[in-house]
Amino acid sequence: MLASRIAGIGGYVPPRCVTNKELEQVLDTTDEWIQQRTGIQTRHWVAPEVATSDLALEAAKLAINDAKIKVTDIDMIIMATSTPDHDVPGAGCFLQAKLGLPGVPYFEVKQACSGFVYGLSLADQFIKTGHKKCILLIGVELQSKLLDMTPRGRGVSVIFADGAGAAVITPTDVQNPEKDSYVMSTTLHADGAFAKELWIPAPGTAIGPQKCMPGMIESGDVYLQMNARYVFSHAVTKMPAVMLESLEQAKKKMEDVDLFFFHQANMRINEKVAEDLKIPREKIHNTIHKFGNTTAATIPLGMWDALQEGKLKRGQLIGVAAFGAGFTWAGAVFRY
Ligand code: UT7
Repeated sequence: MLASRIAGIGGYVPPRCVTNKELEQVLDTTDEWIQQRTGIQTRHWVAPEVATSDLALEAAKLAINDAKIKVTDIDMIIMATSTPDHDVPGAGCFLQAKLGLPGVPYFEVKQACSGFVYGLSLADQFIKTGHKKCILLIGVELQSKLLDMTPRGRGVSVIFADGAGAAVITPTDVQNPEKDSYVMSTTLHADGAFAKELWIPAPGTAIGPQKCMPGMIESGDVYLQMNARYVFSHAVTKMPAVMLESLEQAKKKMEDVDLFFFHQANMRINEKVAEDLKIPREKIHNTIHKFGNTTAATIPLGMWDALQEGKLKRGQLIGVAAFGAGFTWAGAVFRY
């Protein structure tokens, strides 16, 4: 059976580590509030000259190395990000040039926190149809340059962070479905009725005669707006539901899974998901305490982190689920 598999993983966070104490200086917040309400202790933010595609490049190099392929083997790039280098063209285009891959096509996936899982599904389809042989899939986010660093933004700005995770996806001929590495299921959902519960209103073509207008910065419309409790309540129901759906599609049970990676928005969300699905603590790999919420990067960055710790191993059955802006939510089950 022709399927896709994850041949390599990479992850990267910029060197600058930002503590909660540092945020106390500007955001009318406290280390205690941030830790209690979110579980975050530190996060990483870029230096001013760094762009999204630079973060992606670092993670990509590690994934290429891990997969033991040559850069020139890559025949497609899928970049999941909601914070591209520029509005147009997509950040994948800048990464493609930095990797030196002229002619290789790229897609931009803009499903925010669910972006990596959406991208995995896209990669899986291209591989299974035989259309592509080596896809570089990236989840990357550079949030620190679009945070409202005034007390008005404290509910959002303490959470978000910068980082990248990458995976090389290649074809495999599955001989033994109980042992071989392959992607078994991907499940995707969206509901645009909730688009304005978690969004950046401006600049935008829907808000007036011009996309960019004076006063947008002052009004706060250029910053992420989040109906925090509402988003929270949807995250704790949609993530377990999509995880179960993906398992059912893969014909696997909860207890078959060796390791879970859930989107990292808030430790309280993940504790609730674990409780509802009755998952033992040691089967979930969380990174929110050290990396914060890196949106599309949280799942591949978590996988890379687990790989470094020796927790993620070949042959394990992996369950992933994410929820974010859109609303979008998505899950996948694969043998690593
Ligand atoms: O990744 C995309 C998906 N995103 C999510 O899933 C995020 C979901 N939401 C959350 O994680 C949580 O709702 C937050 C961590 C964002 C907020 O936690 P919360 O417990 O829901 O707090 P809240 O927004 O209801 O605010 C509670 C109180 C308010 O004060 P009053 O009105 O009770 O006096 C806020 O003004 O906490 C205050 N507050 C803060 N205080 C100190 C809000 N942000 C802060 C802050 N520091 N940073």
